[in-house]
Amino acid sequence: MSALFSSYTLKDVTLRNRIAVPPMCQYMAEEGVPNDWHQTHYTSIARGGAGLVIVEATAVSPEGRITPNCTGLWNDEQAEAFKPIVAGIKKGGAVAGIQIGHAGRKASSERPWDGGDHIAENDPRGWEIISPSATAFGANLQRTPTAMSKNDIQRVQQDFVASAERARDLGFEWLELHFAHGYLGQSFFSPHANQRDDEYGGSFENRARFLIETVRAVREVWPDNLPLTARFGVIEFDSNDEAQLKESAELTKLLKAEGLDFLSVSISFSTPDANIPWAPGFTAPIAQRIREEAGIPVTSAWGLGEPEIAEKAIADKQMDLVMVGRAHLANPHWPYHAAKVLKVSDPSWVLPASYAHWLERY
Ligand code: FNR
Repeated sequence: MSALFSSYTLKDVTLRNRIAVPPMCQYMAEEGVPNDWHQTHYTSIARGGAGLVIVEATAVSPEGRITPNCTGLWNDEQAEAFKPIVAGIKKGGAVAGIQIGHAGRKASSERPWDGGDHIAENDPRGWEIISPSATAFGANLQRTPTAMSKNDIQRVQQDFVASAERARDLGFEWLELHFAHGYLGQSFFSPHANQRDDEYGGSFENRARFLIETVRAVREVWPDNLPLTARFGVIEFDSNDEAQLKESAELTKLLKAEGLDFLSVSISFSTPDANIPWAPGFTAPIAQRIREEAGIPVTSAWGLGEPEIAEKAIADKQMDLVMVGRAHLANPHWPYHAAKVLKVSDPSWVLPASYAHWLERY
């Protein structure tokens, strides 16, 4: 019996297995509106057999997009365009999730395959960027953001709430707040980005405040019976790792007390000077530590796309779900591949009947 292919229930949501597709920006939208690219992409991945498909980082406001081609969920036109995507994921048999976020000082950038640099300040495609403090990320993101006022903070939190309401009304059943990867939420917690001297900066309590308030506000509109989750970079790999992991576990406990149901354990990416020890599944022990210390179910990603590694991460109770990203870009039917490798009985039936029936004949 494969652990990876066992079902998983959180609140009123049951996933058919422990395979989750993490949010992966497609950079294919115009004015934040998704289109047939996204519909085909998400529908085919859902048909491939994963239990959970989380739609890419979707901006809560125009200025919160990473690039001009990111999806958004701040107006009715965008919400309308998401309807067939939600339907496609559900018809494919997966639970439909979405990650909502604000890119902070990493916003207003070129698409990765166009270099990923900040768009030049005099280029009309770009926009003003905001962050907790007026400190640039560095490397290829050299623009200095405007430090956020208290009004800005409240406005962005309201934007999170409004996008969560739209996601709820669209029928998404799994909401992930993007508090990772050096974007706005992560920036409030990270001393690399946050040098504020008001109640949103400095001490652990102050750096945690934006995240706690945002979870509290979103929980009020996100249904009690559906999972509210966050992706959070618990470690920077900047020589301050042990202290940061302790703080991250503490923060997770506080977020849990506000109603967070689940954490996607990731990397902070708040400084270009981090020294990340890339290796298959290298975040799994870190995820397990947060799972145990904070007492919350977790997932993680980064190089878990080999079936045996994914199976072990679940069997060893390092995480509750495994995020398999790029392996799904290479093969949207990755769960079928995994089912064969792990010798699951009738592996083709991970796929829809119109594929499965033929794959097991002749
Ligand atoms: C990503 N990643 C990412 N992460 C996130 O939190 N929100 C996002 O929208 C994106 N966008 C994105 C786009 C693309 C094309 C890639 C490849 C990655 C990170 C992603 O969720 C995942 O953590 C990594 O891909 C690592 O997992 P794998 O690919 O090793 O399974």
